[in-house]
Amino acid sequence: MSSFERYWTQGRYSRQAHRDLPEGTYEREVGRDGFDGPASHIYHPRPPTSWESIEGPLRPRAFDLNGIEKVSHPFSAPTILESESLRLAYWQTNESMDELARDADGDVLIFVHSGELHFFCDFGHIEVTAGEYLVIPRGTMWRFETSTESSVLMLQTRAMRFSVPDRGLLGRHALYDPAVLAYPKLDERFNEQVERKWSVKVNRRSQTSLIHYPHNPLDAVGWKGDAVPVLLDVKDILPVNSHRYHLPPSAHATFECDAAIVSTFVPRPFETDSTALKVPFFHSNDDIDEVIFYHAGDFFSRDSIGEGCLTYHPSGLTHGPHPKALKRMFEQEAEHTNEYAVMIDSREQLEPVNSLEAEGIELTHYADSWRTDHD
Ligand SMILES: [Fe+2]
Repeated sequence: MSSFERYWTQGRYSRQAHRDLPEGTYEREVGRDGFDGPASHIYHPRPPTSWESIEGPLRPRAFDLNGIEKVSHPFSAPTILESESLRLAYWQTNESMDELARDADGDVLIFVHSGELHFFCDFGHIEVTAGEYLVIPRGTMWRFETSTESSVLMLQTRAMRFSVPDRGLLGRHALYDPAVLAYPKLDERFNEQVERKWSVKVNRRSQTSLIHYPHNPLDAVGWKGDAVPVLLDVKDILPVNSHRYHLPPSAHATFECDAAIVSTFVPRPFETDSTALKVPFFHSNDDIDEVIFYHAGDFFSRDSIGEGCLTYHPSGLTHGPHPKALKRMFEQEAEHTNEYAVMIDSREQLEPVNSLEAEGIELTHYADSWRTDHD
């Protein structure tokens, strides 16, 4: 049990974060360790993202991933961002993998943006469709079959294991009941795989090796245990909300590993108290780099960002709602949000891959879109 806390204060401020802002101010949270550590709220007369220009490599970035080249194996998919322990890639394909995959470096988290895929692995088969997460334990052998145009966000880790964040006071059935998690089965489709030679592409220390088998090594006849790929459909996520106070994004955490927290934004009611913020608060999350992938719906806090886009807000810059979204800071027309998005808050500083600008994937004017004089 923690003791009562005491904050230091100066000037005009709100006694309760994210509501009752002093008149004519914008609130900026400066926080440590995501939304869990020491934090202060600073009240500004102008939006803290209203810079005129930025010099140097630091800037918010946005990418339209719909234009990414198609490749047949996810390990060949273009990297978008990377750090010491994380590689975020985007895999677009319309064909089945002809080599198996095994990541010996760490767990892999998949989010299917579009398409229908059949996942075959050491543990059997499961169908994965748009809006579903798949967590693949380190070392698992797997492959996807597909005949549709499929797009997959893939987060590879080094020496990391994904787990379910602590739900604390909400209890273990909040956000989703563990019973909604699905897992691969030794079903008919698994047992009817065509027998042939298979090679396994193994990723270890970011280098690729191939293990050649004279048969299909996905040939299990039984298994037991809890080191198993798990599937979560975002439609099974039941978001928590407060009608009186804008909850921090950490309330929507879905998976975590030592280097990152993955959260899911799904439709939820807007706050109803007139003085409660109805858009995300500005924050300088100085221990975190923020990545958001926009899956479906209307992204209420960002302007001109469509489905299949990804934004990257590095530490060192404040981020928050876009100027147009800010106009609805205290009043929303709709009763609820209508967005599905995946947020990756990385504890490690990420580096975008520079070739993306050259390939026309990057939305190069994104940094300017935060200017308040920008239309
Ligand atoms: Fe953030």
